[in-house]
Amino acid sequence: MMRRLLFAEESVMSNALHLLEDLEPSIQEFRDAVLSGLGTRQKTLPCKFFYDADGSRLFDEICNLPEYYPTRTECRLLGEHAGEIAALVGPRARLIEFGSGAGVKIRLLLGPLDRPAAYVPIDISRGHLLAAAAELALDFSGLKIMPICADYTKPFALPALSGSRPGIDVGFFPGSTIGNFTPDEARGFLSRVGRMLGRGSAMVVGVDMPKDESILLSAYNDKAGVTAAFNLNLLIRVNRELGGNFVLDRFVHEARWNGVLGRIEMHLVSRCDQEVRIGSDRFTFAANETIHTENSYKYTIDQFQAMAIGSGYKPKAAWIDEAGLFSVHMLEVHE
Ligand code: AVJ
Repeated sequence: MMRRLLFAEESVMSNALHLLEDLEPSIQEFRDAVLSGLGTRQKTLPCKFFYDADGSRLFDEICNLPEYYPTRTECRLLGEHAGEIAALVGPRARLIEFGSGAGVKIRLLLGPLDRPAAYVPIDISRGHLLAAAAELALDFSGLKIMPICADYTKPFALPALSGSRPGIDVGFFPGSTIGNFTPDEARGFLSRVGRMLGRGSAMVVGVDMPKDESILLSAYNDKAGVTAAFNLNLLIRVNRELGGNFVLDRFVHEARWNGVLGRIEMHLVSRCDQEVRIGSDRFTFAANETIHTENSYKYTIDQFQAMAIGSGYKPKAAWIDEAGLFSVHMLEVHE
């Protein structure tokens, strides 16, 4: 009886969902970003602030839209090649996911991986992160889960490793979220993460590819209007958290393909001349003036590999779906 109890306790211990490390951006950071973004000639708002509780839920809805091909294409690629990825990664790897969201994609890798040492999901949306981590703990008993709520574009430390390093560190950055950075920012992020993970570590990155403009535009302007709601939610959030008075139906969601820069842009277009207050600050909008809320760069295999090489990585493998819509890259930290 005594022995059984001890055993049960031990298994609970090893199956630990660790306490959340909370570095959630403060309201002051949000306010500073909004006030400075709306103060420039081309008004902008950083896309990372899309992901409050409502925004994260809307994003999960986007992922299931018929027009939004990236999620389902990437999941199919990950599922098909998880065995190869697991073989390249080796046993007892520690997985670190940047922007873990609902925690759907990591499951595809966790299955085939050989005794992963730990999973470190990092997300800016605390409630979403905790719910996803708890659910994962139920489905992968024995997996050490160490969630961090943080804006991963800012420096932060990985949890300290106890004892000797059992396997390699593997960064996981799916969804083509890399495309939300400008190429300069993307190189900066990749270099920083490479240094954080260390030489010999790996990075698995999902990258959306250039394609027919009409496919791209409908992916970012779906018929059901979920992407529009996702974009407009940023204004709702400013109203609620910063005391703004945006009138929602005076702005329209718009997705544009910028062929010169190879990116989809999301904008909120002002329908009329208007003034908006945020606390004691006032911002004027001319009719048709926009707030630029998101970039989503698309890269060919060669373009992305060149960027990875320039950021201190060695490309190890790249997988593309049959229609050439989306790619998954495996990189090794080289420098
Ligand atoms: C998964 C964050 C990269 O840019 O495609 C989806 C976000 N924006 N629809 C993307 C998004 C509009 C998405 N990321």
